Amino acid sequence: MKIARLPLAKLTTIGVGGEAEVWTVETLDDLKTATQAPYRVLGNGSNLLVSDAGVPERVIRLAGEFAEWRPDLAGWVGAGVLLPTLLQASARLGLSGLEGLHGVPAQVGGAVKMNAGTRFGEMADALELVELYHDGGLQVYHPSELGFRYRHSELPQGSIVTRVKLRLTPSTQEAVRAKIALVDAARKGQPKKKSAGCAFKNPPGDSAGRLIDVSGLKGTTIGRAMISLEHGNFLVNLGGATAAEMYALIRKVQAVLPLEVEWDIWGEIAPAETEVSR
Ligand code: FAD
Ligand code: EPU
Repeated sequence: MKIARLPLAKLTTIGVGGEAEVWTVETLDDLKTATQAPYRVLGNGSNLLVSDAGVPERVIRLAGEFAEWRPDLAGWVGAGVLLPTLLQASARLGLSGLEGLHGVPAQVGGAVKMNAGTRFGEMADALELVELYHDGGLQVYHPSELGFRYRHSELPQGSIVTRVKLRLTPSTQEAVRAKIALVDAARKGQPKKKSAGCAFKNPPGDSAGRLIDVSGLKGTTIGRAMISLEHGNFLVNLGGATAAEMYALIRKVQAVLPLEVEWDIWGEIAPAETEVSR
């Protein structure tokens, strides 16, 4: 186990956030020790906005036995494994089930917690069993017990996803790659700048990005944080943005549109009052 004070800006895709004590756990014993005080779990940091002051809780990262997987994708897959790694393997093996998650830069655990996905499929669809650590021990659940909906799960309080068994069906390399190409095409309009993916959930039957677009908010900039010109639901870090600036953009959108935030927000963030430009 490693324990270090680290800037979370370096561990999140949006590149924002102050320091925390990061506990990198490799075994069940490590996990038991790390969870003896208040904690949060970090996956790949791709859906997180962390306060500029960081967070006081321990931040747990999964490594060692929680990042193991078999090249044939049979058996248990560690929650610390990256989805893009599994996607590549499933395409090579001609196994279908993960294609809808192409382009989601998550760890398995973060993808389960958020029920990450696209309109081509979501994480819950690809799960046979989920192993969770909570209340001092490991428990195995069927996905139907975990309240999965659009970008939502109901894991027992304090749960850490430790491993999953995937539900994949034999197909061909060509068919799997063709479906991945379809998802890739649907993502073409998404910006490459630093972000945490879509900032808001889609309201039923509509797209938050489209609503932000027609409201004329694209291009709004607060400090170094900007509503992408490419896709209205991506709030991007132009380099050196603060959490306060990113959060001020969220409030700016919510002043006009009643959208629910998709990002997980860690710590207290007061919106920046920097001048707005477009
Ligand atoms: P983190 O961001 O690290 O954490 C997110 C939440 O999950 C936190 O509450 C955290 O505590 C919890 N968590 C993480 N690991 C565990 C664990 N092992 N056990 C319990 N809880 C855990 N999302 C989509 O759904 N669809 C998309 O198409 C999509 N596209 C994206 C594109 C880009 C460029 C980016 C940057 C993000 C995108 N996202 C998308 C958002 C993001 O990838 C997902 O929400 C993803 O599920 C987050 O996973 P993570 O491992 O990065 O989790
Ligand atoms: N649109 C606009 N202007 C914009 C953005 C979108 O008019 O600025 C229009 C598009 O032209 C399209 C419609 O809105 O007609 C839907 O857009 P898109 O296909 O980009 O899908 P989305 O609903 O905006 C969702 C997910 C993404 C996922 C894509 C691909 C949510 C909140 N977003 O976006 O997920 O990658 O579909 O399937 O569900 C995420 O959750 O972080 C995320 C990136």
